[in-house]
Amino acid sequence: MDRIVIRGGERLIGEVKVSGSKNASLPIFAASLLTEGENLFHNVPKLRDILTIARVLKNLGVKVQGENGAYRIDATEVSNNEAPYDLVKTMRASILVLGPLVARMRKARVSLPGGCAIGARPINLHLMGLEAMGAKIDLRSGYVEAKADRLKGADISFDTTTVTGTEHLMMAATLAKGKTVLQNAAMEPEVVDLASVLKKMGAKIEGAGTSLIEIEGVESLHAAEHTIIPDRIEAGTLMVAAGLTRGNIKLQRCPFHNMEAVIHKLRETGMEIDPEGEGVRVIGSRRIRSVDVKTQPYPGFPTDMQAQFMTLMSLSRGLSIITETIFENRFIHVNELQRMGADIRIQGNTAIIQGVESLSGAQVMATDLRASASLVVAGLAAEGVTEISRVYHLDRGYEELDKKLAGLGANIKRVKEED
Ligand code: EPZ
Repeated sequence: MDRIVIRGGERLIGEVKVSGSKNASLPIFAASLLTEGENLFHNVPKLRDILTIARVLKNLGVKVQGENGAYRIDATEVSNNEAPYDLVKTMRASILVLGPLVARMRKARVSLPGGCAIGARPINLHLMGLEAMGAKIDLRSGYVEAKADRLKGADISFDTTTVTGTEHLMMAATLAKGKTVLQNAAMEPEVVDLASVLKKMGAKIEGAGTSLIEIEGVESLHAAEHTIIPDRIEAGTLMVAAGLTRGNIKLQRCPFHNMEAVIHKLRETGMEIDPEGEGVRVIGSRRIRSVDVKTQPYPGFPTDMQAQFMTLMSLSRGLSIITETIFENRFIHVNELQRMGADIRIQGNTAIIQGVESLSGAQVMATDLRASASLVVAGLAAEGVTEISRVYHLDRGYEELDKKLAGLGANIKRVKEED
């Protein structure tokens, strides 16, 4: 397993391009199952999770060719309707193929995604919605078996706002008979990007980006061409990196308008973040002001930025409180940050961070995707050397983050396992 080694203290200076969104790409790949013909997606990020969803699709008989960020996906022939455990266990968003397979093939068998480091992450709302649309759902030997001659439109209300639950049922509804209404739907930009692709495929969708989405089912969908939106969480992570190193960077392809809550909070800490030409200028301040944050569904402060923001607060000039309301176990990074000298106390779903003068480099271990990002940015600011193991977590959701940071002047290198 690769490691990343960082010698802290370098200011980040220069320009860097934000890659395409992981969390927009994954449902859009699944949506290709709804279509006949060759889809063409641009700006797809080079990530482990993308390779995984591509393997899931190939396993279903779908033609998938990817190079230099462009993917051609042709699901005209779907010869298998099963997504096996060994693939789904590595990437839980694989469950998103279930609804499209039932809508297109009338039955599917997909491994139940287990829990993960940050929480149990059940999919009861996904299955509730498919059942409301007429699917017969059986849970057997760790698999979901679903079948329906034809899904029918339904009125569905989510008890909890769920991003992939909204995406999953929006996709299934496109080929259902009649109208589906999703209430308390997720409003994330990635939901909107998926809806825009589905509409290019011929789907009839109104309200994506609001909490009420209406889908009028159609008989079939055709292939489409689409450019994936930039990744707002990668962009936010790079902003935090600049904030931790008193950096001065310019982000190209930054989704500025999808990041209101993050930018607002980072400005409160003293950072300057403003559009500049085609990009966004990000300037870190000498003093990092302490700011409280509470994670919320979009347009609130995203849970996927919580760990990175906590690292910034660990070097702030005071006390800040971070409340995690989305997942029940998303403070795993705290122990590792404490080993670097951060002063953090946990009370339930709340973290109390007392800013310290400096963090010290240490050997730390990545445990989940965004926790590993929080350790990387901590290493940029820490005194001495930080060595992060199990960086495969990082590679799931960040395209060559170490190279991007090195390009901005960070003293960072990847040590291959065999070295
Ligand atoms: C998506 O996960 C993202 N992943 C996550 O990003 C992100 O953290 C999360 O949304 C919240 O924004 C992708 O888009 C691939 P949820 P998802 O369903 O859809 C509960 C990253 O780092 N819930 O919105 O799985 C659930 O337990 C990843 O890129 C149910 O109870 O999250 C959680 O408490 C991590 N039953 C809450 O809802 C369900 O059926 C929100 O989860 C579904 C969800």
